[in-house]
Amino acid sequence: MAIQRITSKWDKTNVLLRNSAFHRLIPETAKLGKTRLGEMLNRYGMVYVKPNRGTFGNGVIRVEKTSVGYKYQTGTQTRSFPQLDSLYAHMRSVTGNRLFLIQKGIHLLKHSRRRFDFRVMVQVNLKGKWETTGIIGRLAHPKKIVTNYHSGGTPLPFERLMSTHMNTSQQQNYLGMLRKMGVQVAHQLQSAYPRIKEIGIDVAIDTKLNPWILEVNTKPDPYLFRKLKDRRVFRKVYRYAVAYGRIGKRA
Ligand SMILES: Nc1ncnc2c1ncn2[C@@H]1O[C@H](COP(=O)(O)OP(=O)(O)O)[C@@H](O)[C@H]1O
Ligand SMILES: [Mg+2]
Repeated sequence: MAIQRITSKWDKTNVLLRNSAFHRLIPETAKLGKTRLGEMLNRYGMVYVKPNRGTFGNGVIRVEKTSVGYKYQTGTQTRSFPQLDSLYAHMRSVTGNRLFLIQKGIHLLKHSRRRFDFRVMVQVNLKGKWETTGIIGRLAHPKKIVTNYHSGGTPLPFERLMSTHMNTSQQQNYLGMLRKMGVQVAHQLQSAYPRIKEIGIDVAIDTKLNPWILEVNTKPDPYLFRKLKDRRVFRKVYRYAVAYGRIGKRA
């Protein structure tokens, strides 16, 4: 049976929210509408707006409330709007009637003044159990608001990005926490999508070092882990993916 991809970010977020243990890890998420956008900008000062069925960071918008109105950024383009009405009208001219989500904006940690986040890969292992197999950082293109590899992000090891933010033993603890969280997220998603064999969680870390789940991909790119010098990570990711039929040995 083919590996299942669940595309709706809204559906996947709500599956996670069914378990209260995840509430503090998920930035408030809502369907895009003018009233809610205004409320969330008042509450958080900065939000991300993204297509419900998006990939590669395409169509992602960052909006910040400023003293004179709103700052809007997509790709490398920034604009400002004095009023919520003009901001929302412009946004809708871009999004059309497609479903977009508003999410509390997380102020990502930075490395050389570029934002970064992490991809946590979780797979069913050779014993049929969920295992976190890889964690890789993604450093955003200097002028962009997204970290995706397909939007010019640079894959880098966790330690490279975190060494200025925590010491070595804190890094080891943090990695352990992320691995555990990865397995818990997989179990929760599996409760709704019993056929999944792999997930890739996009995890942001804010300036207080709290982790946030930005999205969960149900058919994550295994080849991202080829970018790590430590070849063991990709070898394991690959071995598991072949075992459950995601890559190779195609009928
Ligand atoms: N709430 C948010 N706060 C901060 N950055 C975000 C937020 N949502 C998305 N991003 C940035 O945009 C990128 C793409 O968003 P994501 O939800 O993963 O959609 P996609 O399916 O396009 O990868 C993330 O990896 C992250 O860098
Ligand atoms: Mg993503």
